[in-house]
Amino acid sequence: MTKIVILTGSPHTPGTSQLLADKFEKGARLNDNQVYRYDAGLQGNNSPHYLQLEEAPGMEVGIPDNDLIEKEVIPKLLEAEIVVLVSSMYYFGINAQLKAVIDRFYDYNHELKDKHSVVLISGYGSQDDVAAIKLHMKKLQEYMRWPSLGDIYAEDSWNQKKLQKFAQKAYEIGKSIKGEY
Ligand SMILES: Cc1cc2nc3c(=O)[nH]c(=O)nc-3n(C[C@H](O)[C@H](O)[C@H](O)COP(=O)(O)O)c2cc1C
Repeated sequence: MTKIVILTGSPHTPGTSQLLADKFEKGARLNDNQVYRYDAGLQGNNSPHYLQLEEAPGMEVGIPDNDLIEKEVIPKLLEAEIVVLVSSMYYFGINAQLKAVIDRFYDYNHELKDKHSVVLISGYGSQDDVAAIKLHMKKLQEYMRWPSLGDIYAEDSWNQKKLQKFAQKAYEIGKSIKGEY
């Protein structure tokens, strides 16, 4: 049984990146893996994403008692073997809501190292348009020492036929996850 954390960022539902996440999750659950999913873009206003940089002078930001990231998401991430980052492409980058969760890794950078990862991105444009986001995510995977088990950069998300193919690929990646990591 593998512990998997899925973090999604899009505020759009039903959405194209949500479809990739759903299919991945469906595949991953076939093998009795333990899946925790946090849809950052779909949280209400009661779950603000505060930036916590305790080590950085001048960045004193309070974390409320009910902070879900601190209380639930980070503990799940710490024990996860695989982290799945899912986003749509917004202005050549990832969704702000997912980035706000990633920024919270900072206090746990060291403990979060050496897992595996999957990146699922959807965007309206071409492969050329996803170049910047691809570089960003690859750098993040390298920095966190999270080798990839398969990434999808789904261009032309308006094209249902293409999107379904990418969704099937996400399902296959999910299904391939079993055993020790
Ligand atoms: C605010 C915003 C910014 C976007 N920026 C880009 C972009 O830079 N490049 C691109 O190809 N598509 C862009 N899109 C289109 C989305 O990436 C595309 O519609 C995607 O399928 C949305 O996925 P979702 O339904 O999971 O949010 C943008 C859409 C929105 C709403």
